[in-house]
Amino acid sequence: MKPLQLRIGLLGLGTVGGGVAEFVITRAERVTRLFDCHLELARALVRDRTKPRPVEIPSSVLTTDPQDVLGDPTIDVVVEVMGGEEPALTYMGAALQAGKHLVTANKEVMAKHGRRLLELAAQHNVDVYYEASVGGGLPLIGPFKRDFVANHISSVRAIINGTTNYILTRMSQEGIDFRDALAEAQRLGYAEADPFNDISGLDAAYKLAILSSLAFHTEVTPDQIYHQGIDTLTARDFRYARELGYAIKLLAIAREHPSGIEARVHPTLVPHQQLLSEVNGVYNAVEIEGDLVGQVLLYGRGAGRFPTASAVAGDLIDLARNIRKGVNNRTQARIEAGNRVLSIQELDTRYYFRLTVSDEPGVLAEIATVFGSLAISIAAFIQQESDSERRTAEIVLLTHRAREASVQEAVRRLRVLPRVREIGSLLRIEDGRSDRDA
Ligand code: NAP
Ligand code: HSE
Repeated sequence: MKPLQLRIGLLGLGTVGGGVAEFVITRAERVTRLFDCHLELARALVRDRTKPRPVEIPSSVLTTDPQDVLGDPTIDVVVEVMGGEEPALTYMGAALQAGKHLVTANKEVMAKHGRRLLELAAQHNVDVYYEASVGGGLPLIGPFKRDFVANHISSVRAIINGTTNYILTRMSQEGIDFRDALAEAQRLGYAEADPFNDISGLDAAYKLAILSSLAFHTEVTPDQIYHQGIDTLTARDFRYARELGYAIKLLAIAREHPSGIEARVHPTLVPHQQLLSEVNGVYNAVEIEGDLVGQVLLYGRGAGRFPTASAVAGDLIDLARNIRKGVNNRTQARIEAGNRVLSIQELDTRYYFRLTVSDEPGVLAEIATVFGSLAISIAAFIQQESDSERRTAEIVLLTHRAREASVQEAVRRLRVLPRVREIGSLLRIEDGRSDRDA
């Protein structure tokens, strides 16, 4: 039988696109031998044709005109690895309308517009593959669409941003500065071109929107997900957390409750006994709880050229096999109607506060009064040495479970107390149980 020919139009030839191009060029023969399909890099769209590329590409393949990819009827599949919302979304829509299959690593577009693109693909009888959009080389979209599909999923807890996990690990283990750790992550190709989305938690919120939509058969959009970044954490927070038995991780958490879906991303104190606290460097991990399968932990490289190219290339081979079999990759499950996404104000969890206060008698009593008046119970307390020059002391408080709305009110009341000089950090604690159901 003649191998299936799959002509690829790449949109982007940066960190991920370079890895995909290298895979297609160097492993074409193996792919043909094993999978009976011949992958061919037809065109690659870039901004700057003169830029050095990590892999040798014939200059006739490079183009700066998107029409050379989108308007070429001989191109079967468009691989979008340029990133950002626009013009990527427009190009992706045009590719589907032109009857081309789409493989993408773009979590922003899939989180905001995935449903519309999947509908458009179905109308034009083509497919959208997006394994690389969440967790780099870690298989997630496939398992959610296939392997876990028999389960009622109750929770997804994940470290799904390699850049921030790398930064937090370097800050915690080496005591290095936030800016230096970020520069390292950028040099290693983990961070987005503009790292704001990584640092602010937005990148993880995009990924959580994609995963929770699949897990709970609901449309969860990024604007429904509370997110808080890591840029205000200090070396002292890591020291206190360690002393109290916790690591600090940027956790993406989604749970299903009878009242709706909880979905949030923020720096979190994770007890040292939990596996997620041990996930370091650029590694990602996703812990899924299903009623049949129980707890599953998927762990792997969440960013970087070849791990991400592995997911894109896997999608390309899957697409080729499905074309050969004459089947499609579409998810058939219906969206559950009436599932609402809960507001962060409705959250019940435990909290960590780091405060700088005047080192004077009676200050603790004032703080305890604020907490007590809002029914927030204090579980642990540390006071560090005072700064005698500034006549201040630093205190750290851990609370029992409390309602987020009450905690935010406590913050407002503490801010106006003259002897509370600064609320340095307010972090949530994750004990791994469903806080609402406990
Ligand atoms: P990148 O290194 O910045 O590469 C982007 C590529 O797209 C570059 O080749 C650039 O051209 C091209 N490009 C961007 N805007 C363009 C435009 N308007 N017209 C033509 N070409 C354009 O980005 P990346 O890190 O590979 O990320 C690509 C996508 O993969 C993003 O959606 C990202 O979120 C996702 N992703 C990345 C990783 C990772 O580890 N990096 C992991 C998972 C998913 P020039 O080279 O000429 O500038
Ligand atoms: N910037 C992203 C990260 C790339 O650091 O996880 C992978 O999506």
